[in-house]
Amino acid sequence: MLFDLIASKVSKDLAIDLGTANTLVFVKGKGIVLDEPSVVAVRKRDRKTSEIWVGDDAKKMVGRVPGSIEVYRPLREGVIANFEIASLMLRYFIQKVHQRKSFVRPRVIISVPSGVTPVERRAVRDATLNAGARDVYVVEEAMAAAMGAGLPVTEPMSNMIVDIGGGTTEVAIISLTGVVYSSSTKIAGDKLDMDILNFVRKNYSLLIGASTAEQIKILVGRAFQDNEEDEIDIKGRDLMDGIPKTITINSNEVTGSIMDSVNIIVNNVKYALEQCPPELAADIIDTGIVLTGGGALLKNLDVRVRREIGVPVVVPDDPLTTVARGAGMMLDDIELLREITNS
Ligand SMILES: Nc1ncnc2c1ncn2[C@@H]1O[C@H](COP(=O)(O)OP(=O)(O)OP(=O)(O)O)[C@@H](O)[C@H]1O
Ligand SMILES: [Mg+2]
Repeated sequence: MLFDLIASKVSKDLAIDLGTANTLVFVKGKGIVLDEPSVVAVRKRDRKTSEIWVGDDAKKMVGRVPGSIEVYRPLREGVIANFEIASLMLRYFIQKVHQRKSFVRPRVIISVPSGVTPVERRAVRDATLNAGARDVYVVEEAMAAAMGAGLPVTEPMSNMIVDIGGGTTEVAIISLTGVVYSSSTKIAGDKLDMDILNFVRKNYSLLIGASTAEQIKILVGRAFQDNEEDEIDIKGRDLMDGIPKTITINSNEVTGSIMDSVNIIVNNVKYALEQCPPELAADIIDTGIVLTGGGALLKNLDVRVRREIGVPVVVPDDPLTTVARGAGMMLDDIELLREITNS
């Protein structure tokens, strides 16, 4: 008891958004202090790990490494795919934000997608404990996102959150501090990147990397074509002769290539409204939909959801940090946290 009290004074409690694409760490009283890609690079010598790079340093190496280095993304589709590497990454990030100043292990809130299985949830908890946490509270991403977006989660009024990350798109309805409906699809940011990569390969015989495809999506991708037509030069390797080549593609082509996936995302939102109990749907007509996650920044997506579904749509100021900020808010409200983790 006394130890707990002292521990809570000297350790820095953390909230972590462990995402497929990015991991964010929020320190109590400080805010977000770390925001790096969920990527790890490992150099092996004689089958033993001799050097590791994590986050920004590792992402720079994607697609550029010699044979002795392997680059991992320890999460796939919102869940831990490589336990060892995920633990290693979390440990590195926790140590980085603590700058080895604190001797006491932190209490950690960490978020998971709503659709995870008990085994997957357990893996996240264990990886966090493995990484040096004292206590771990596993919370649902949708609840954290709703808090981060400033929604009244404790009221008996439903709110819809659509979180479009790298690995999953989650649609959740929240009411009275609980997730009352949720659905999840693996069509999200990474899939759009693959759509673009495949389009460029098929139509231009040009091989590009996933990071290039992501840049194309961010710069000229749209959820529907508008009157602005942008062009972008892209570099890759010609599939025929293996020589580096630059081509120019326009926003129409890119938008066309991601359209099937964008349709699935929008249809998932529609389907959620059709499937949920009528009282909840009725609330959402008034309260509207909040789009979060990096995918919420896809140009025209908010306009499209508003037009097709006919409810108000809001994208919070910084949708890439909404989950981390919301989980961070829970650090200040242990009562609410207990309620959330018990429900
Ligand atoms: N301006 C933008 N337009 C379109 N997509 C974007 C933009 N900015 C970021 N993204 C995409 O958002 C995704 C990352 O979002 P986010 O960090 O919310 O995912 P995550 O939380 O790591 O993943 P998940 O929640 O699925 O585990 C990437 O696919 C990235 O390409
Ligand atoms: Mg996320």
